[in-house]
Amino acid sequence: MPLLWIKALHLITALAWVLGDLYGPKLLVYFTQPDTTPDQRAMLTTQLKRLVLFVATPGLVIALLSGVTLIINTPGLMGSGGWLHVKLMFALILMGFHGYLLLESKTMAEQPDVIINRNPRYYKLLSKVPELCMVVIIVMAIVKPF
Ligand code: HEM
Repeated sequence: MPLLWIKALHLITALAWVLGDLYGPKLLVYFTQPDTTPDQRAMLTTQLKRLVLFVATPGLVIALLSGVTLIINTPGLMGSGGWLHVKLMFALILMGFHGYLLLESKTMAEQPDVIINRNPRYYKLLSKVPELCMVVIIVMAIVKPF
């Protein structure tokens, strides 16, 4: 498959991954708010589970595989400067964040009180992690500043 098709696949799937990791914390914020009803909480639990399992996780796996394919098939890429290393470091942080979101969606389903008792500000602050990762990754990949 020509490399440009792999790059297109990489961008499409990275989008699905980032979308899930950006929206997940917002669903957790709604879940913790005191005026949210039990019915709404049940719906938010299903939404987070589907978002993380069926959108973001497949996106992560395919973006990772296509990213590694790009590295293997682009001679000199690893030595082209620090931008790729910074991009990969933030992609790794985003993967860790995704793992945490998976755990949170499990806790939401099995021990909802643990999540309800958290301060909504915790999740608002947490949502800055994928936002920062997305900005750094895209600036590194497009601008290649160093
Ligand atoms: C899973 C880890 C990832 C790996 C191993 C990886 C690897 C790569 C590689 C090797 C390239 C080609 C760079 C070049 O030839 O100039 C690339 C391009 C790119 N990646 Fe990733 N990437 C990963 C995650 C992500 C994520 C999460 C995003 C989105 C937030 C992303 C967005 C991009 C963009 C925008 C490009 C530029 C495409 C272009 O040249 O037009 N990547 N990636």
